Amino acid sequence: MSAGRTAAPAAGRWVFHDGDFVAAADVRLGPDLQALQYGTGVFEGIRSYAGDSGEAHLFRAHDHFTRMIGSARLLRIAIEYSAAELVDIAAELLRRNGHTGDAYLRPLAYKTALEPGVPFGVRLRGVSCALTIVSLPMGSYLPKGGISCGISSWRRIPDSSLPARAKITGAYANNALATDEATAAGYDDAIFLNQAGHVAEASTANVFVVRAGRVVTPAQDADILEGITRDSVISLLRREAAIEVERRTVLRSELYTADEIFLTGTGCEIVPVTALDGRPVGSGVPGPLTRTVMDAYDRSVRGRDPHDEQDWLTPVHATPVLL
Ligand SMILES: Cc1ncc(COP(=O)(O)O)c(C=O)c1O
Repeated sequence: MSAGRTAAPAAGRWVFHDGDFVAAADVRLGPDLQALQYGTGVFEGIRSYAGDSGEAHLFRAHDHFTRMIGSARLLRIAIEYSAAELVDIAAELLRRNGHTGDAYLRPLAYKTALEPGVPFGVRLRGVSCALTIVSLPMGSYLPKGGISCGISSWRRIPDSSLPARAKITGAYANNALATDEATAAGYDDAIFLNQAGHVAEASTANVFVVRAGRVVTPAQDADILEGITRDSVISLLRREAAIEVERRTVLRSELYTADEIFLTGTGCEIVPVTALDGRPVGSGVPGPLTRTVMDAYDRSVRGRDPHDEQDWLTPVHATPVLL
């Protein structure tokens, strides 16, 4: 470890980079970075929340790092830490940066440079890898009163081309095209259809639809990221409202005729969609089931859920990591 935990970084904030905690300003990544040129990186977004006692918790960090290790395996990116070790490193980074209120972590594992003797070209083998984790303070950033969405003319990349279930940096150009189109048209976000024309997901969130008391979300084979918030919501609805979410093909017309639509994601949390393609969703305000899910999720992430037996929270103020 290059610096003591109490020493301030040379400038700005700490990041975890290449096996050590270093000042962000000391991380130097050049223009020949393979991940920059070819999009060969994988990442996660993880939140930590301040609880009532002032104690911060990471939410489902082990699940996020497990997913990242899976994404990395797809791109042959070596990560030399276990998910449990990465959780400890993440908590240590938050402590060092003093990010003990609501905060966000962005771990990124990526291809760096061709190893000596490896010929120039787009490749996954013979390329070195690195892992960088940054943290920043971040509260909720979307209006709880609802957002508008437009169905994107860009289709979600199919699993047979670039699997959406892996969070691959390069694949997010697809998401950027969709959000650019949606915001240029005056919407807040885009909802993707997949190549079959069925509902896939929003730009960085999964989609849930409420129709006549039933709750539906696109199944895992709809070219979606299998969201950790999606999974949390499925559990919370089972427990709080005795509702079993149906995971199946969702048709575009089901969105237009829905009583409620909401999006789920680590970044956006639970956000109601109150208008779609210029039509109100239901009565145009967040519906009762959406509000139930928002409340349950908020209680869960802040450690206010007395029934939280699922081990979703990791205290940030735990034993320091010794690398
Ligand atoms: C494309 C996409 N879908 C869904 C999600 C929601 O996933 P999670 O709930 O694991 O954050 C995200 C955000 O990570 C995303 O980028």
